[in-house]
Amino acid sequence: MKSWVIGNWKLNPASLNEVQALVDDLVDGVNTQSSALEACHIMVAPSLLHLAKVDATLRSTRIKLACQDVSALSATSGAYTGDVSAEQLQDLGVQWAIIGHSERRQYFNEQNAILLKKMLNCASQGVGVILCIGESEADFEAGSTTQVLGEQLTVVADFLQQLDAVEADDYIAHKLMIAYEPVWAIGTGKVPSVEEVTTVHQFIRERLQSFNSTLAATPIIYGGSVKPDNAQDFAASEQINGVLVGGAALKADSFIDIAKAFSK
Ligand code: 13P
Repeated sequence: MKSWVIGNWKLNPASLNEVQALVDDLVDGVNTQSSALEACHIMVAPSLLHLAKVDATLRSTRIKLACQDVSALSATSGAYTGDVSAEQLQDLGVQWAIIGHSERRQYFNEQNAILLKKMLNCASQGVGVILCIGESEADFEAGSTTQVLGEQLTVVADFLQQLDAVEADDYIAHKLMIAYEPVWAIGTGKVPSVEEVTTVHQFIRERLQSFNSTLAATPIIYGGSVKPDNAQDFAASEQINGVLVGGAALKADSFIDIAKAFSK
């Protein structure tokens, strides 16, 4: 399976000039090192405000684009101040949306019922879903990781149940991935060992397979303090099908170094 290396820029950078500089550096880096990057998909998720600008530069490149969120209220258009719909993303050429990032769960109180609506809105417009799951530090210390992840994953079963068979097959084959991001590893420099992540990914894969056997091939990527100096270790595990990178995605060099590790 070709790995996925995805940069989540979150609420960064602050200025349009910095966004353009980052995306230009990224395109230069990917072009000059293209043979070392062939074996992975590369994607970035800029802020909503910057999506169209970044899209204009990336359109002629192999770098894919994701949105960091999508409206739960409408798949198309309507009176929903501040929201962006899956149809608007599709129209702009944005193929993927990150859904359920722990920062959305924490600061916007997003839970499975809302996440399910977002996923279904994506499906109605053919936008791919990167579903983020992860346990808090307290859950980790209490040994509740798999219980928490199991509850978070029920949304996948509910999602597939509400699609028709053709749509479900399409999502399973091409348009769904799971990002495991332990909350305590995000932006902290604390990382679980590769063995720990491998074990968790095995659990996620088994749980997905219990919903539908063809979910065995769903990409499961890891996020949380991924840097160029630990990317190689994560890339060595067959269970880790890529990474969702925050801080280290804000410098083209470090992001490309991570992508190279996943392209071997
Ligand atoms: P960091 O790589 O900064 O820890 O962020 C990870 C993350 O939240 C990506 O979505």
